[in-house]
Amino acid sequence: MEVDRRAFIATVGAGALSAMSPEDKAEELEHYMIDMLDGGHDHDAEEPLSEEEQEVQEVRNARGMGRIFQPRSKPLEPMPANATLEDFFRLRFAPANHVLQSASHAMQTGQPERTILACLLHDTVQTLVRADHGYWGAQLFEPYVDERVSWGIKYHQALRFFPDESVGYEYPEMYNRIFGGDYVPEPYIYEAYEYARAHKYYMESRMITVNDTYAFQEGLAVDIDPFIDIIGRNFKTPKEGLGNDNSGSAHMWRTLANPERPL
Ligand SMILES: [Fe+2]
Ligand SMILES: [Fe+2]
Repeated sequence: MEVDRRAFIATVGAGALSAMSPEDKAEELEHYMIDMLDGGHDHDAEEPLSEEEQEVQEVRNARGMGRIFQPRSKPLEPMPANATLEDFFRLRFAPANHVLQSASHAMQTGQPERTILACLLHDTVQTLVRADHGYWGAQLFEPYVDERVSWGIKYHQALRFFPDESVGYEYPEMYNRIFGGDYVPEPYIYEAYEYARAHKYYMESRMITVNDTYAFQEGLAVDIDPFIDIIGRNFKTPKEGLGNDNSGSAHMWRTLANPERPL
């Protein structure tokens, strides 16, 4: 995927960008690329905002909040009773091109089903919250998947900044091009990387970052259908429906279902 540096900076605002930490800049770039794949924000068609208007909007729409809380042109469709993961893909995560492309690459290269599932899920929590998305994503899915899947999702946030030649994962060239070569991850990201690097599940997370780099292809739409059987075998869908099952993350599913509900 080609990223137009000037268009990217215009979206974020040069002033806002210069005030961000390197970690925030990298996050912002990833969100921008995912949004571009999904056809951009609802407000893309509007007149470009002045710098002052951008600053006001940034205060209103905190960058770390998910797409579900951002302005949209039409109301959300209600979720069905006993909602499944497929329902959330269809009605909340869609179009989800990035994760579908990522899972598709894992499938085409013969990776295990749990890795395909991890890739399919790895960034979907960004619909709800973007800040620290690896950690939020791990919590959202933990009650329903093999622990290697949620562990992998948690640490992919840190691992993506560190190369691993053994699997052909290089430091993303995109980060160099956009931010220059002086990018330094924050200490907690370093610590998470060091911890994950020495862990027996390291490769579970590393492979998410490998498949991630193949998943920013414009004009490539992937459907959820090829993954339905893998979800069936590897995702423990609660019979009450996600959000009604009293799991540790049921409240997160309910918020995804009804983001406008007060208190
Ligand atoms: Fe991610
Ligand atoms: Fe990703």
